[in-house]
Formats: sequence, C-alpha cells, structure tokens
Amino acid sequence: MAGDASDPAFLTRAFRGAHAVHTLLPYDPASPDYHGDQDRLGESIVAAVRAAGVRHVVALSSVGADVPAGTGFLTSLFRQEQRLRALADVHVLALRPGYFFESVAAAADVVREHGVNVDAIAGDVPIPMVATRDVGDAAARALVARDWSGFAVRELLGPRDLTYAEATRILGDALGRPDLGYVQLPGEEMAAILVQAGFAPQVAALHVEFAGALGDGTIRAQERSVAGTRSTTTPTGFEDVVGELMGVAAP
Ligand SMILES: NC(=O)c1ccc[n+]([C@@H]2O[C@H](COP(=O)([O-])OP(=O)(O)OC[C@H]3O[C@@H](n4cnc5c(N)ncnc54)[C@H](OP(=O)(O)O)[C@@H]3O)[C@@H](O)[C@H]2O)c1
Repeated sequence: MAGDASDPAFLTRAFRGAHAVHTLLPYDPASPDYHGDQDRLGESIVAAVRAAGVRHVVALSSVGADVPAGTGFLTSLFRQEQRLRALADVHVLALRPGYFFESVAAAADVVREHGVNVDAIAGDVPIPMVATRDVGDAAARALVARDWSGFAVRELLGPRDLTYAEATRILGDALGRPDLGYVQLPGEEMAAILVQAGFAPQVAALHVEFAGALGDGTIRAQERSVAGTRSTTTPTGFEDVVGELMGVAAP
C-alpha cells in the first residue's frame, strides 16, 4: 500500500495482520519544521503499531540515537526510540546504522563540478559507515527471525570506520581523480551552501550541529572494536559500491 506515513489511519490499515513491520522516519531537508514533522510521523507510526496490534517492530534508527540532544537531526531518532520503547507488549528492535555510503556519494555532483569535497564534518575523525544494502539485509533478516524480545538495539557499522578524508579518497579513485581532497568548512559556510541547495535554514543548522557532534565524539558507536573485530560489522565496503553509487564503472 502506498500512502502517507504521517496518516495513522492509513498506516493502521497497512499494518493490520502483519507479524512484523519495518518503520523509519524519512528525512526531509526542505522541511520548515523538521522536528515537528518528525514527531508527527513518529507518533503516527506508534499509534498505528498499537491500533493494528503489531507485535514486532524493526525500526530504522541511527548511531547517535542514544543521545537526547545536541546531535542535529538525530535527536528525532532518540525521541522515536523512546516512543517505541514505551509500547507495551511490543518487541522493538532499533537498528542503529552508521553513516550511509550513499550520503557520502551524494557529493558526487559537487565534486565533479568543483574538484573538491566539502562539508562541516571533521576530516580526520573515524566514522562508522555502512552500505544501505546491508541495512536492508539486516532489517529483512530481523523481520523474518523475530529473535529478540522487549526493546533491543543492533548497531550496523560497516567493515571499518572511515574518516571523511579517506572516504573522499575512495570517491576520487572512483572518479579517476586520485588527488581529490576534502576540506572541512566552518559551520556557517556549510549551512549557507546547504540553504542554496534547497535545505530549510533550520535543517542546515541541524546538519552543522550533527557534524560537530560527529567530530567531537558525541555521536559514536556503542560497540568498541576488540582486536579489529566487532559483532556489529557489516560486509560491504565503500570501495565495493562507490562506482555504482556515483554512476561510474567500479575502479
Ligand atoms: N543518511 C544517512 O547517512 C543515515 C544514517 C543512519 C540513519 N539514517 C536514518 O535513516 C532513515 C532513512 O533515511 P533515508 O535518507 O534513507 O530516508 P529518505 O530517503 O528520506 O526516505 C525514505 C523513504 O521514505 C519515503 N517517504 C518520505 N516521506 C514519506 C511519507 N510522509 N510517507 C511515506 N513515505 C514517505 C520516501 O519516498 P519517496 O522517495 O517517494 O519520497 C523514501 O522512499 C532516517 O531516519 C535517517 O535519519 C540515515
């Protein structure tokens, strides 16, 4: 059924009879009331889960959703986890992926035009990054297995953390520009670029707050690497998908 997730009556019809549902809060950079919209969507989802009598929910969340404030747009995912956690007799699995490779590759057009990658995110901080195909895979497995109880969290962290500088080098290799550089911009400068690209000013400010929280470690994975291994690792690397994401042949 195709419809608007902020309409709880529609969503209840869509969920009725389901053993399990996969839920997410879509990201709308043009929203003039970002957190208000996210709260309405989140409440609609929770109301529909309750009304339809669904017992298992696999909710797409994010690394950083454990932090209540100061993480930019991720605070709406903290709030959604709290709403889902409060559901009685419903088993909720919050999937907390790292940064999507797709989000890094979204800079492809800017990189092609300007020959440099820019953002407000620190270039030298290792960030867990993940392929959305692995997130989808984990969600599908969880929907079928339903092998957790109560409220549980599963991080999805990619084969290794990447700094933004490293991720930019991988982008550059895919584009045949091995010397492609990454420049961290001051927050106000990045916000102005985002507004020019169609972001609502409030969402541009949330991006800058998010970038700062990534850089200072406020947003971080809960599972630490032990001798280079983590149980939350996913298989696909950025090198594996970068060509496909940027619409060029893989290197
Ligand atoms: N991007 C990242 O790096 C990252 C990392 C970790 C977690 N996350 C989280 O993952 C979640 C999904 O992010 P995303 O960037 O993949 O989302 P997205 O592309 O913005 O949205 C996902 C889907 O939701 C649909 N949609 C939008 N508004 C809707 C509505 N009112 N009713 C029903 N469907 C609607 C969109 O359909 P249309 O395409 O047809 O509009 C799209 O297919 C977010 O909560 C985000 O915070 C993102």
